[in-house]
Amino acid sequence: MNQLTLQILCRLKASDMFLSGGELCREFGMTRSAVWKHISRLRKDGYAIEAVSGRGYRLSGSPGLPVPEEVAPLLTTERFGRNLVFHKEVDSTNMQAKVLARQGAPEGSVLVADSQTGGRGRMGRAWVSPPGANLYFSIIFRPPVPPVRLSQIPLLAAVAVHQALCTAVGRLPAMIKWPNDILIKGRKVCGILCEMEIEPDMTHFVVAGIGVNVNLKEIPAEIGQIATSLFLESGREQSRAGILSAILNHFEPLYDKWFEADDLCELLPYLDRYAWLKDREVIVDNFNGSLAGCVRGMSRTGELLLESEDGTVHQVSSGEAHIRK
Ligand code: BTN
Repeated sequence: MNQLTLQILCRLKASDMFLSGGELCREFGMTRSAVWKHISRLRKDGYAIEAVSGRGYRLSGSPGLPVPEEVAPLLTTERFGRNLVFHKEVDSTNMQAKVLARQGAPEGSVLVADSQTGGRGRMGRAWVSPPGANLYFSIIFRPPVPPVRLSQIPLLAAVAVHQALCTAVGRLPAMIKWPNDILIKGRKVCGILCEMEIEPDMTHFVVAGIGVNVNLKEIPAEIGQIATSLFLESGREQSRAGILSAILNHFEPLYDKWFEADDLCELLPYLDRYAWLKDREVIVDNFNGSLAGCVRGMSRTGELLLESEDGTVHQVSSGEAHIRK
């Protein structure tokens, strides 16, 4: 969207009343037909704008897309989301964010899409990504830390999303399932997939891909038993721009503090309070095989503390946990 169209949109947004064509012409130093062109462009982008002769123009609806012009006014960040690229459809926002990162996009850049044709989940699974309802986005990080610390970023992301959802939606019984799922009443509302390009002692970049089921009204059959959405849990449609900006607004200060602190120490009480697996008997599957035990908590560097039957406490650094029936 060009700068003038954006300014006219902001002006319409700021007014509950009709704005006359003459007023817009004077304010923006343009002719009536130029104003009309900008109005037509906005309508093409999905904005509902009433035009009544003798009264002027009034904004009566937004497309509800997480586009820069909707997200930017809601940001309180310095870096996160300030460079935000929107696509109607991509294969996977992680794939495209990695392309941007290789081209030198700055830290905090965000790539967001209305739908994904090849959305990817953890453990090689697919992430169901229909248009018009959910959030699919990826944030680029360039932390100057040794790669060994990077496994903490998914946990930071989980805390940021959890805090944002609880603030933006309110009264949500959301829990964090180690390492980085957000569940409501045991069903997944958000998944996080972090991917990185590193050298043995150097981090090039990390991409944190976040999928949130926002306004999905019917859960697709293939994930019907395991997923939910903010709409289904709150009974209200949520603004995708609002949820995205809330996540970015929570994430940036968490990330900056984590970088200073060197570990997750400050977040441990929060992670403990909202830990879905706390004191549960689980099996964790990872590339080493499976390990069974009772979850006792999390280490300050993000490992799951799993007490096996013989009383040994194992520190598990990656994997997927299943609650034992
Ligand atoms: C999981 O398996 O729980 C992780 C799911 C991550 C999905 C998000 S949607 C945005 C980003 N792009 C992808 O292809 N995957 C992540």
